[in-house]
Amino acid sequence: MKEHHVSSYAGAVEALRHPQMVQALYDAGAVIMHKTLLTLDGEEHRVRRLLENRVFRKEFLAYYEREVFPATLTATLAPYLKAGRMDLIDFGRRVTMNLTADFAGIDRPEGTAEETDVMFELVKIFSEGATLVHSKRVKTEVEAEVREALKVLDARFLQPSIRRRQELIARFARGEITEDDLPRDILTVLLRNEDRVELPPDVLLREMAFYLQAGSHSTSNSTTHALHEVFLWCEQHPADWQRVEQDRLFLQRCVHESLRLHPASPVAWRRPSCPFSMQSGDALTEKDRVVIDLSSANRDPAIFGADADEFNPSRAIPRGHFPFGLTFSSGVHTCLGRDLDGGVVSKPDTDPAKHQYGLISLLIGALLDAGVRPDPNEPPTPDIHTQRPNWGRYPVVFTR
Ligand code: HEM
Repeated sequence: MKEHHVSSYAGAVEALRHPQMVQALYDAGAVIMHKTLLTLDGEEHRVRRLLENRVFRKEFLAYYEREVFPATLTATLAPYLKAGRMDLIDFGRRVTMNLTADFAGIDRPEGTAEETDVMFELVKIFSEGATLVHSKRVKTEVEAEVREALKVLDARFLQPSIRRRQELIARFARGEITEDDLPRDILTVLLRNEDRVELPPDVLLREMAFYLQAGSHSTSNSTTHALHEVFLWCEQHPADWQRVEQDRLFLQRCVHESLRLHPASPVAWRRPSCPFSMQSGDALTEKDRVVIDLSSANRDPAIFGADADEFNPSRAIPRGHFPFGLTFSSGVHTCLGRDLDGGVVSKPDTDPAKHQYGLISLLIGALLDAGVRPDPNEPPTPDIHTQRPNWGRYPVVFTR
């Protein structure tokens, strides 16, 4: 096997969008990723994605951002505000766990602290399983933990969630309730399965576990990176404290700039499904692996300018490119949670009152409203359990 590295922006886009490239990164995390949406290709991927994409329609995202999420955020934030301090990582994971469980369709009927803790541990284990390729731990140990965690997810959460939805779907079929009374989540869409997609129980279980982790750790890590960049920026540009607190379109630009510099998945891997040559002249065969370096592509001076390595929320972005670069990937596997988390990219005539900012900007906005600052007595520390450049602890205090 030959490994090809692609680090330019143009090369990364070509590889991500190439019809003859198939997913390869998650072979190591098969214990949780096998046959989940992200690992599928061709027709099988297309039909499952079309089905699941129903949950991410524009009007629902706007409704979720305005009506549902603020309540979840306020409830999760309240005890931390009362304490006057918190670890940003812990807080971020708790909020995003609830968010992704809502989207996946995993009920937490008890609403107890014990139930939240169990779910929290499950998501942590699934996340480690999905990114096994970058784990510093013994792989078989992580796999065994994932298998156990899948059993708990199935018995305690998934089966009751399925039963509740099946009853509602049956009532809808009998005309007793309307479509609006059905839960708006991936599990409901998959159980209704209007497109007759093949989905045995073990695949459904892994798909739910995949969703729980796909949205959760990426969102919380990205939130911490973005707030860290905001802190650094405002230390160097003190006049901008007021701007990040009051101009939410500017705050969203800060979030997009941070997403560009700190992609949650620093690389994407692909494998050619047949021999072909890239535009660079690189000849590939089915036995090769193509490592697409999203981090480097996002810092390519050809697109983002000579200061591409620096955080600059006023950076001019050339037409046809996203300010967050390839952080949400490109092509058929483009992240389904992109608009949910990143929001819509603003234009000069965007109305701030009607804009969809994305959940990361909303989260950071709420923390800034409470006067969040780095804890002066406890500096942040990196996560030592992964090769990915994430924070392990990030203590903050509230000054309001
Ligand atoms: C900052 C947050 C996030 C980042 C940076 C991110 C990043 C990514 C990336 C890079 C991929 C594609 C990987 C590849 O091409 O190999 C992906 C796929 C995916 N993401 Fe996200 N993600 C985030 C949040 C979310 C959320 C909140 C959800 C769901 C609620 C989600 C659901 C998905 C799904 C379902 C896919 C698979 C799409 C497909 O294969 O067709 N993501 N994400």
